[in-house]
Amino acid sequence: MSTEGRPRLGALAKMRGGCPQLNLWTILIPALAFKACVTCGCLVLLFRQSCKEHKTLPQNSAQWHCVLGTPESKERVWRCCPMGWKLFHTSCYYLFSDSRYWDESEKSCMQMGSHLVVINMEAKQDFLLSWLEGTVTAGEGKKSHCLGLYYWAGEGQWHWVDQTPYNQSATFWIPREPNFLPWEKCAVLQVGRRTASSGKRTWNNIRCHKYCHGICETAAVNI
Ligand SMILES: *[C@@H]1O[C@H](CO)[C@@H](O)[C@H](O)[C@H]1NC(C)=O
Repeated sequence: MSTEGRPRLGALAKMRGGCPQLNLWTILIPALAFKACVTCGCLVLLFRQSCKEHKTLPQNSAQWHCVLGTPESKERVWRCCPMGWKLFHTSCYYLFSDSRYWDESEKSCMQMGSHLVVINMEAKQDFLLSWLEGTVTAGEGKKSHCLGLYYWAGEGQWHWVDQTPYNQSATFWIPREPNFLPWEKCAVLQVGRRTASSGKRTWNNIRCHKYCHGICETAAVNI
């Protein structure tokens, strides 16, 4: 299109040879308009891009906190979590101070663009234990925290809410749990003040209509 346009502009210039100013403007105005369009387009794209990112994180968060890499990896990337969320490795975690039914907790996490926590390695279990133990106050018994793990009777298998494969070797059930009571289909992590001394096997299966403190997990934003 531009190669076709050029000869015609040239012809126009010849025809109006006595008026070079008009000639200049015929080129300048479309050029400026084109530049403006490109700039607008870029802004719209940038805006869309940042919107996409925010969709995956809590909508109501006005502030963020970021950490440069992790001490062990020394990577040059900032990992960011919304205020009130705790960063560990590549995820952000949020703990509900109140307790709700397991399925209500998962719903609340989903409303914030997250899921109930998924534990597929020992380091994560250790991190959660030391964090959660600190939230148990004196005089409080064991606190139940909802895990993103439930029993899917159709398949006779435990399932993580984010489809992470269930790996029996990376589970931390209390000895003799999960029991096989057919109505106890949801998993919790039970923490008292001195859980550490009794080991890290803290998971139990409960009825999904029992109260637990939800722990939400979502991917940290890298910048
Ligand atoms: C299951 O967990 C164990 C222990 O953490 C790990 O060594 C193994 O690689 C895992 N298997 C799969 C398939 O992820």
